[in-house]
Parts: sequence; C-alpha cells; structure tokens
Amino acid sequence: MSDFYPVFWQIHSNLPREGPGNFASTQQAFSHLSALPDSPQILDVGCGPGQQTLDLATLSNGTITAVDFHQPYLEELKQRFESQGLGNRLEVICADMADLPFAEQSFDLIWSEGAIYIMGFDRGLNQWRSLLKPGGYIAVTEISWLQPNPPEPVKQFWQEGYPSMRTLEENRAAMERADYAIVDTLVLPEIAWWTDYYTPIENKINRLKIQYQNDPEALQVLESEQQEIDLYRHYSQYYGYVFYIGQRPSHR
Ligand SMILES: C[S@@+](CC[C@H](N)C(=O)[O-])C[C@H]1O[C@@H](n2cnc3c(N)ncnc32)[C@H](O)[C@@H]1O
Repeated sequence: MSDFYPVFWQIHSNLPREGPGNFASTQQAFSHLSALPDSPQILDVGCGPGQQTLDLATLSNGTITAVDFHQPYLEELKQRFESQGLGNRLEVICADMADLPFAEQSFDLIWSEGAIYIMGFDRGLNQWRSLLKPGGYIAVTEISWLQPNPPEPVKQFWQEGYPSMRTLEENRAAMERADYAIVDTLVLPEIAWWTDYYTPIENKINRLKIQYQNDPEALQVLESEQQEIDLYRHYSQYYGYVFYIGQRPSHR
C-alpha cells in the first residue's frame, strides 16, 4: 500500500516546472523593471527546480539567491546552472520562506513564481518587503479569479484547495495595502499552464495509473491531480495565474 507522499513526489519530480509559467511571461514581467541596476541582487523564493531562476540569469546580469525547502530541487538547480557555465551567478539556500535568513535591504528584486500562496499572499508581501532595498521590485505569481461567478464545480474545488484565492483586483488592492506601488499585473497565457506543467504531469499520471492499478489510495491521489487539470481545461477563462509586479517606495 502506498501513502500520499511517494506518489505525490513521483508526480512532482523531474518536471520542467512545479507550477504554471513560461519564458515569455518571465521575460515580459522582467521587462517592466526599468530602474533595476545593471547587476541586480535577485532573490527567487520557492524556486523549485528553477526554470524561472535560469531564465532570470539569462535576462539579467545579476546574482541570484534561490531559496527552497526541498533540497533535491536545489541540487537539480545547481547542476543546471553549472552545466550552462552560470554557477558563479547562483547561491542556493535551503530555508523556510517564512523565516528567510537575510539582512534587511539585501535585494534589488524579489521573484517568486507559484509559491507565495504557501505563506499567504499578504503575509509574503509584508514580510519580504524589508528585504528589498528602497525602490526595489517584487514580482510574484498568484492564482486569481479572473471573472465573477465561476461555475459551481470549479468554485467548490478551489474553495477546498485554496480558500483564500482572491480576484485580480483584490490582490492588486492587497499589494497597495502592503505598501508597494503597482508596476503592472499580467495574466499568464493558457500555454504557460500546459507546456511545462500540466502536459508533463498528465503524461506521468497516465503512466502511474498503470503502475498503481491495484492501489486505490495511490489512484485517488492521481485522480485528484487529474481533476485539477480537467477543471482548468474546462474553466480556464474563470481563473489564472497572474504576475503581480510592485515596487517598494524609494523613500521608506
Ligand atoms: C508550486 S512550487 C513552484 C516552484 C517554482 N517556482 C516553479 O514555478 O516551478 C512551490 C515551491 O515552494 C517550495 N516550498 C514549499 N514550502 C516552502 C517553504 N515553507 N519555504 C520555502 N520553499 C517552500 C516547494 O518545495 C516548491 O518548490
């Protein structure tokens, strides 16, 4: 009999990304950071296997500190940087995003794709702000409602899975309350959910269903992952991942 975690980690290992995202979206968000210094100090929180970390290294001349709780992701990321000759631009730190071991005003840019929900959008924005230099930027992606009155199945799924999911407008207001000037908000295109995330997961689910055909608990885990994917397939117009890009005021 398997328990939840082995099957979960079988799905969530060796994926290109651990959440929706793609190079074009990272690039578009990065292009809004007009006042970044030439070689910015960048913090990537909840970096996972780090596709966006590599993309940031390509887009900037900066040095990136990548933080995650799951050491195997950090090892994978280090190898990816080293194999591309970028090892000197990366530091990896295994730490809790809610208790980051950095001095105030250490970074020009805080980046976090698909991870701030873990500590909560407001708490993340508030707690991380002091790590930014005055005038520094933050860019985070957060799943958000894009239309009012979503159909019942999708509403119910996300009410159970992520009850604090809010609308894009509510999150913009939260960013302002957390004392950031809003630079822009960008909705990730649907392709950013599929190419590097849901499609590889779906391929894995199909293989694992055969491996676990006699294991009802494992099949249940697979079924729940499949349900999330099917809901997005049917209801993607109602919710999406949004890049929230903000700037810490330069006078405080
Ligand atoms: C949904 S994944 C996103 C990963 C990556 N940014 C991406 O888009 O591919 C969330 C990441 O946060 C990490 N994580 C979870 N809890 C954490 C915590 N308390 N502190 C730091 N990282 C955490 C997970 O290990 C995972 O890599």
